[in-house]
Amino acid sequence: MHRAILSTILIGLSSLPVRAEIWNGERDLVVGDFEGESYDLWTSTGDAFGDEPARGNLATQMPITGFQGKRLANSFHGGDDSTGTLASPAFTLSRTYISFLIGGGRRPGKLELQLVIDGQVVRRAFGSQDKPGGTEALEQGYWSIGDLEGRTATVRIIDQAKGGWGHLNVDHIVATDKDPSGITLAPVPGLNDPPRQPTCLVHDIAQSLDPRGSGIFIPIRNGAPKRVLTLMDGDSVLMRNEVELADDLAKADWDAVMNIAPFKKVGAALSIHLDRMKPSFMMRTPIFDPARANAGSGTGRGGYDEPLRAQYHFSSARGWLNDPNGCVFHNGEYHLFYQHNPYGITWGNMHWGHAVSTDLVHWRELGDALFPDESGMMYSGSAVVDWKNTSGLGRDGKPPLILFYTAAGDEYTQCMAWSTDGRTFTKYAENPILRQVTHGNRDPKVIWHEPTKQWVMAVYVELKGVHTIHFYTSPDLKTWTYASKTDGFFECPDLFELPVDGDPAKKKWILTAASSEYQIGGFDGKTFTPETPKLPGHRGKGFYAAQSFSDVPDGRRIFIGWWQTETKGMPFNQSMSLPLELGLVTTADGPRLTFTPVKELEKLRGERRDVIRPDQPYGARPRVPLVTRVEAGGLHEVRVEFEPTTAGNVILRIGGSTITYDVKARQFIVHGQRANAPLIAGRQRLTIYCDRTGIEIFASDGQCYMPVPVNIGSDPQPSEISVESDGGDAIFHALQVHELRSAWR
Ligand code: FRU
Repeated sequence: MHRAILSTILIGLSSLPVRAEIWNGERDLVVGDFEGESYDLWTSTGDAFGDEPARGNLATQMPITGFQGKRLANSFHGGDDSTGTLASPAFTLSRTYISFLIGGGRRPGKLELQLVIDGQVVRRAFGSQDKPGGTEALEQGYWSIGDLEGRTATVRIIDQAKGGWGHLNVDHIVATDKDPSGITLAPVPGLNDPPRQPTCLVHDIAQSLDPRGSGIFIPIRNGAPKRVLTLMDGDSVLMRNEVELADDLAKADWDAVMNIAPFKKVGAALSIHLDRMKPSFMMRTPIFDPARANAGSGTGRGGYDEPLRAQYHFSSARGWLNDPNGCVFHNGEYHLFYQHNPYGITWGNMHWGHAVSTDLVHWRELGDALFPDESGMMYSGSAVVDWKNTSGLGRDGKPPLILFYTAAGDEYTQCMAWSTDGRTFTKYAENPILRQVTHGNRDPKVIWHEPTKQWVMAVYVELKGVHTIHFYTSPDLKTWTYASKTDGFFECPDLFELPVDGDPAKKKWILTAASSEYQIGGFDGKTFTPETPKLPGHRGKGFYAAQSFSDVPDGRRIFIGWWQTETKGMPFNQSMSLPLELGLVTTADGPRLTFTPVKELEKLRGERRDVIRPDQPYGARPRVPLVTRVEAGGLHEVRVEFEPTTAGNVILRIGGSTITYDVKARQFIVHGQRANAPLIAGRQRLTIYCDRTGIEIFASDGQCYMPVPVNIGSDPQPSEISVESDGGDAIFHALQVHELRSAWR
């Protein structure tokens, strides 16, 4: 291709000639370098870009690095809340690439560098920052535009983003035929531009690995700029994730695992692509290492002993976890799916992680079951066994296990996936099963309603600013009809029936949602009729988005929540609460929920010590602690029963945690957290579970459930448990200590 070298090109567009392209002497066309005292031929609207290119950072902005020359386009004029656009003159595309430097916020749709042809955005790029802190640095990015040769285009920067990281930094936009220096041939995915040159081809080895054990290790450096990691089969994109990639292996904090098992099939040509990596990266980094890629999700079997690894609360081997999803009993196993980011220790890239257990205590993590796709990330949802095969998805007399999830893409739709073996899941070909009602609607909870012999789905929908739960019904799980709605609950609904005081003839319905607040009432298959106001659920901290298990054979209603236990410095983050059995008891105020640790947890018990026995009660006097030394390790179940007679406070210390009962207020105070806990027949009966990441307290016969995340860690020293009173006497009727074993061994 021959192109003349000129210092200025004049392009005639309609009748208005504009100077759009400047040769920089290297056959490259500078579209914008923002070195002048004005934006020159670029036009700006709004306030964000000010009157002239910025000389680095603006007032209150962190220092900017990585721009070229003395100035750059910076949309922080007037701070993050200002908005505006900055557009180049139109010019003819005549090179293979446009390269640029870009930094600032990652807010797709609101904050973009765009290539526009005939009013259509044909390429886009974003900054990389999406949380407080971070860096203003610009990094190189580029678009492949060979296919657009001869078209007339403009480059435009839009800033419609307000609040944190609501600005972009852009510089040195150049059209070029050279591979933009310092970057691989894989164009930036996430744009309308599927990558063509693989960074790493995994085809051959993918075929030879055990189909259930194909993991590719991806080195992660926490906080590193996010790269887009794309898995492709030939030309089609299978999955895209954002990864804080360690481009220097020596600096990796941990290895994430990309589970490619579900994508392997005969004839598949799988390849992995990374945007914006230096070519040398490939050489230095064995992205995939079949010798290590044999552990499904990379559970690092035999591991689970990191200092901040909860020892009997479920956590994912690697990566971030939030809500429990798809809790169900099927074929002899409890299935716990969960919101999982396999590639980072913060929220993002939502997959459904998957673990199974036969006893709710010992969990085995399998690889991720649901992967983000073109319909969006895989948000929370539920699961049922379709016993009567109403969906027709069962095979050979095997009832299907069906998962319901929200695909959180441009639209938020409700979808399903099914399995007959509980291992491999197929997304339903005719998804979605429910279109978007309003943006952000999510978290389908599906149950079978026996009296009306139909399926019911509860979904969270924000309607004109009001948080509502919508109910739908279906004969076959595939087609859904709107039935009713109720106001006042936010995210992750659950709906179930419980007997009052264990009497199967007296049942009530419970509607609850992410906060675990609940209402008791009636449900006729279409409409929930509340009989109580919203009542508080848990009384502690960091317990959220709990979900009850479907299809539990003995009819127990087992509930498990996301326990927000932050574990800094670990290759994983967050955990689940203990599995809890729910009950309804009559109280002076009416029926109330009770939370009790499931009985299976008793399997973890090791040595038992009866420090105080019911036949030899202990009269505690003010400030005279009764002290017991316990084994190192800090894993305990402690059972206490006391009568606070004249005491002002009754105090229990376990390792570093102090549990104070304020007798007058009838409240527990634990790590600054207060919880109402009535005395029952003048006594307080407590069960306390201590793990490395927190304690869970069950008081008032289960009416008070108080989870408190606190990093206790693995304590190498023996610790102490003590009881005492304050301001008066108390009688202890029992103090029983069980050492607990790790559930991972
Ligand atoms: C609750 C939640 C859900 C959503 C999921 C996304 O924690 O916001 O509503 O489906 O997390 O991870």
